[in-house]
Amino acid sequence: MALKITVIGTGYLGATHAAAMAELGFEVLGLDVVPEKIEMLQRGEVPMYEPGLEELLRKHVAGIEGSTGRLRFTMDWAEVGEFGDVHFVCVNTPQKHGEYACDMSYVDAAFETLAPHLLGPALVVGKSTVPVGSAERLARTLAELSPAGEDAELAWNPEFLREGFAVQDTLHPDRLVAGVRSERAEKILREVYATPVSEGSPFVVTDFPTAELVKTSANSFLATKISFINAMAEVCEAADGDVVKLAEAIGHDERIGKKFLRAGIGFGGGCLPKDIRAFMARAGELGADQALTFLREIDSINMRRRGQMVEMAREALGGGSFLGKRVAVLGATFKPDSDDVRDSPALNVAGQIHLQGGQVTVYDPKGMANAKRLFPTLGYADSAVEAVRGADVVLHLTEWREFRELDPAVLGEAASARVLLDGRNALDPEVWRRAGWTYRAMGRPTA
Ligand code: UDX
Repeated sequence: MALKITVIGTGYLGATHAAAMAELGFEVLGLDVVPEKIEMLQRGEVPMYEPGLEELLRKHVAGIEGSTGRLRFTMDWAEVGEFGDVHFVCVNTPQKHGEYACDMSYVDAAFETLAPHLLGPALVVGKSTVPVGSAERLARTLAELSPAGEDAELAWNPEFLREGFAVQDTLHPDRLVAGVRSERAEKILREVYATPVSEGSPFVVTDFPTAELVKTSANSFLATKISFINAMAEVCEAADGDVVKLAEAIGHDERIGKKFLRAGIGFGGGCLPKDIRAFMARAGELGADQALTFLREIDSINMRRRGQMVEMAREALGGGSFLGKRVAVLGATFKPDSDDVRDSPALNVAGQIHLQGGQVTVYDPKGMANAKRLFPTLGYADSAVEAVRGADVVLHLTEWREFRELDPAVLGEAASARVLLDGRNALDPEVWRRAGWTYRAMGRPTA
């Protein structure tokens, strides 16, 4: 009989995972503790912007016309315990307030609430990003609290999805990692992922700590790559070099590779910043803090770029204060094709300039509602042209396609001065200069 799957926590990761499991042909039951989320999902609506996810959901959610009916949602833990052969735990692990460490309270609560409802054989699969050592501890929780005892087993299966590509990354992962303690657990996970594995996704079997570490080390590597190129941008700025050309040239070396070498205002979002901090905190607890002191530098290079963008804007306005100056900000989300503004470098820069007296007007294709909630005191406009109207300087801070397709001539009519600062090195300098704009970017020569 086909495995029945539950997904606990229906945020970014969980909602995508649940829809993907239904797409792979399984019967799926999703659980969340927030009633509004469950109600939305039951209507086939996604609580965030993620290309393709709503379509996938509507294809499978029971009760929607023409759906397969394979995907349902509930708030009832007993129902989840009874339904599932495999339970994926997908709750979030945010950074703790005032600390680097991650907050495990949602993961702990999920395990403690689920375990008493596991009456027969079940595999609980952790997907959340957790400090190494958590799986070991959670396996004990399961054994102690579940009536099924040893039959309720744990596996750790980290998730590597990128926002904006969540559906594609989940259905066609570039690798699957299975932290397991038994052949039975491995066999069940192979069954769950049989389709992507048959299509070529590598399946890497590890122990618990390695599986947990794969995730945090992958994110640390990506953060390091971005901060490396941003450090080179700083040197280029001092030496009048061009970091975009530099990245292109070193990227031709296959050992280096050209991906994730885009210099700019750096990384943000709900993962990279908090994951490298939690990783440092955990290494400290393990007495391995020296191994990760370089991540402190990665973090500070990254945060420095936001300050550098503010200084570039100040300079473009003649050097002094932002008082009375109008600043247009294109982009609010931490990356394009997402409405996520968590730790967004764009909003951080906008906020800093606003706090220093600048009149900031922000426009973003998808992130307006979330940005307004987080920074209600900033000005907002309904379009790029409206944001730019009357501006003394224009900051391009999130590389949406919509911004690449803007007509510099039209924007030039609206702006009070044709000065563009490209914080993402994503616009074509020639096109903007030809239209009479002063184009400046991070780590690039001024003319
Ligand atoms: C990341 C990891 O990529 C993913 O594997 C993991 O599961 C979750 O964290 P995500 O947070 O969606 O995914 O964003 P990602 O695409 O990695 O970008 C992170 C940040 O780095 C963004 O703010 C982006 O603008 C920035 N970035 C990325 C750069 O500044 N330069 C680059 O070259 C690439």
